[in-house]
Amino acid sequence: MVLLLDNNYDIVEPLASSIVQSLRSIGYSLETAIADIVDNSIAANANQININFIWNKEISYISIQDNGMGMGEEELKVAMRIGSMSPLSTRNSKDLGRFGMGLKTAAFSQCKRLSVMTKKKDEELHTRCWDLDLIEKTGKWSLLKEFKEISDLQIIEQGTIVLLEKLDRLISESYSSVAYNSYLKKVASVEQHLSMVFHRFLEGPNAIQIYINNMLLKPWDPFLVNEMATQELAIEQHYDNDYIIKIQPYILPHHSKISKDTYSYADGPRGWHDQQGFYIYRNRRMLVSGSWLSIFRKEEPYKLARIMIDITSDMDFSWQIDIKKSTARPPKYILDELKRIGKIARDASYKVYYHRGVRLIQNNATQNNDHVWEQIHKHGKVFYKLNRAHPILLKLNDEVDDYKLLNAYLSFIEEYSPFNLVSYTPSLKIEDTNQEKKNYNKVEITEDILSSLKDIIYALKSSGYTGDQILYRLCNSEPFNKYFEQIKALLEEE
Ligand SMILES: Nc1ncnc2c1ncn2[C@@H]1O[C@H](COP(=O)(O)OP(=O)(O)OP(=O)(O)O)[C@@H](O)[C@H]1O
Ligand SMILES: [Mg+2]
Repeated sequence: MVLLLDNNYDIVEPLASSIVQSLRSIGYSLETAIADIVDNSIAANANQININFIWNKEISYISIQDNGMGMGEEELKVAMRIGSMSPLSTRNSKDLGRFGMGLKTAAFSQCKRLSVMTKKKDEELHTRCWDLDLIEKTGKWSLLKEFKEISDLQIIEQGTIVLLEKLDRLISESYSSVAYNSYLKKVASVEQHLSMVFHRFLEGPNAIQIYINNMLLKPWDPFLVNEMATQELAIEQHYDNDYIIKIQPYILPHHSKISKDTYSYADGPRGWHDQQGFYIYRNRRMLVSGSWLSIFRKEEPYKLARIMIDITSDMDFSWQIDIKKSTARPPKYILDELKRIGKIARDASYKVYYHRGVRLIQNNATQNNDHVWEQIHKHGKVFYKLNRAHPILLKLNDEVDDYKLLNAYLSFIEEYSPFNLVSYTPSLKIEDTNQEKKNYNKVEITEDILSSLKDIIYALKSSGYTGDQILYRLCNSEPFNKYFEQIKALLEEE
């Protein structure tokens, strides 16, 4: 510890004007800046946020208004301070902040004047404003008490309005139609970005409503969880000290299994190819939107794999969260796990991309329905059900006297189908397989069985079984127990 004794130090204050210029260059885009300001509204428990982009030459502005808990006067002054809270302080589990900087750095990246108006329920209204021109001129951190009067911006009960004016970084002084078009494009990117990074706040029973220029923002769900043909692979939990990291891989459907609208919806802000990979969420807010985190390269057949990783703000330092909340780097100890899970998801994507094997279940009645089996993925397991909409079965149902009995028998077949038995057999010892393999002679295999074997091996692999486990299971189930050599060859081939 360094002791401060008389005369063994100088006080060297930072230069206000240089600090301000540096803070403006942290590297926010308009999208990440607005998202950082919205983080504060969500952390303040707002359930409605109105964002307005107003283009009006030199008096253009952006306002972000929420109905959150608001701030008292002292809180507001602290909030306006550069570094309002130490990054080392403990935060509550819903807080989306960390550095005590976001409001200021995000605003200054786009504008030279940041004003805040805020009100707690049943308390007075307070306003404060940073004007960078004034700081530049005086060299002093003089926080103004004013807030420009704009009739549309009022707080009735409680909440906060953040107002960005002097938008020198966003609006060029020419105010030409070219400048206007480029401004509109940026606003559209903000919409896309917010509906992506906050999608988990925008859906469900306690959804937050975000309006941009009075239009309600819709969530963009990268995983298409409501599509029947989306596969949910097994969810895994790992630990960062006492904190849980959840990892849930999804395999999006082959394009032939979804409508054109759904296909273009899933395209997302950067397109199918670029949106593959890991998605890292911190306290449900997305930080990383599709990246293989330098573990793998992005390639076409793997574009259906999107993997959700959930961390909490307790892991901010081990995951190296940045001020802009736009990156996170997994700690070394988890990389091997991510590699293993990533590989399973990529293999599954490859298989769906090339559209081999049994059809996945689909809910589109107009698709042809002449397949016999449907492959279903639930809770990380794969099993098969008969296609109950097969035209012959529908006809049989109409014609038999006791259709209930027929369907009971079909359920019985599903239950005892070799694949489903294999899928559910409890794990057995691998050495036993090696013992028993001597009993098998090489038998000729038909095309049909070979193709089923390929599907089953693929599905078991996708569920995380090792080659030895698959070999054991298959060699203990009719009718595959005759084909030891072929199964072994297939496993080596894959
Ligand atoms: N809309 C708001 N409603 C209520 N309080 C707010 C609002 N915006 C900011 N604050 C308060 O101001 C503080 C400073 O916000 P700022 O974004 O600068 O830092 P932070 O959120 O603490 O951390 P980070 O730099 O990681 O964003 C917040 O911690 C919060 O207490
Ligand atoms: Mg913040």
